Amino acid sequence: MDDRLLRYGLKPVVFMLLLLPAALLLAGLLRGTLGADPVAALLWQTGLWALRLLLASLAVTPLQRLTGWRWPIRWRRQLGLFAFFYACLHLAVYAVFDRSLDLAAVWEDIVERPFITVGALAFLLLAPLAATSTRGAVRRLGPRWQQLHRLVYLAAGLAVLHYLWLVKADLRPPLIYAGILAVLLLLRLPLPLPWRRRLGPASG
Ligand code: HEM
Repeated sequence: MDDRLLRYGLKPVVFMLLLLPAALLLAGLLRGTLGADPVAALLWQTGLWALRLLLASLAVTPLQRLTGWRWPIRWRRQLGLFAFFYACLHLAVYAVFDRSLDLAAVWEDIVERPFITVGALAFLLLAPLAATSTRGAVRRLGPRWQQLHRLVYLAAGLAVLHYLWLVKADLRPPLIYAGILAVLLLLRLPLPLPWRRRLGPASG
């Protein structure tokens, strides 16, 4: 794909699209259209968008390996950073609206409610990945960067577990996300030889 089209045309469009769910949530909050329990709606939506974008960022490399396309790799960082952005919003909604910024109550939840413990661990793993996503950090860390960024699989696994654990009735939605993560992990395994010959070496 043409570099200038990507930088000046598509990149800002993708940026706006990734920001759209947050903008719609803010508009819904201000107009009072988020339903009877707006805090719950904000928590669900921000949590779901964090998870969706995390999985989308993990889908980039397998997509590149299977198709041979090089251009999707350029969206990986943006998808990962937006996943972290929605995770930050999710945590902020929880701490500010659900727990009224009572940090002792937040800590108590983290220690005593296993699904929150797991969510907090996923968040803690995502933070250093977001902090080291700059080109400078990639250069500075060298091969250690790739090792560090393997933690994204653990973070995604914990995020899915967090979702599975909190659902009380219909397990199907979190199981669908678990299935997608499992497929994405399987696709990271070495490809059969004929595919490897056809597609050549993969990066990431
Ligand atoms: C300190 C970190 C976190 C805290 C305190 C937290 C807390 C919560 C809470 C209180 C809920 C709603 C539970 C309910 O409805 O009973 C929730 C739901 C959810 N969270 Fe988190 N969470 C955290 C991190 C994360 C992260 C890192 C992700 C994803 C990357 C995530 C994804 C989700 C999802 C997908 C849901 C369910 C949405 C739905 O019900 O449709 N959470 N979280």
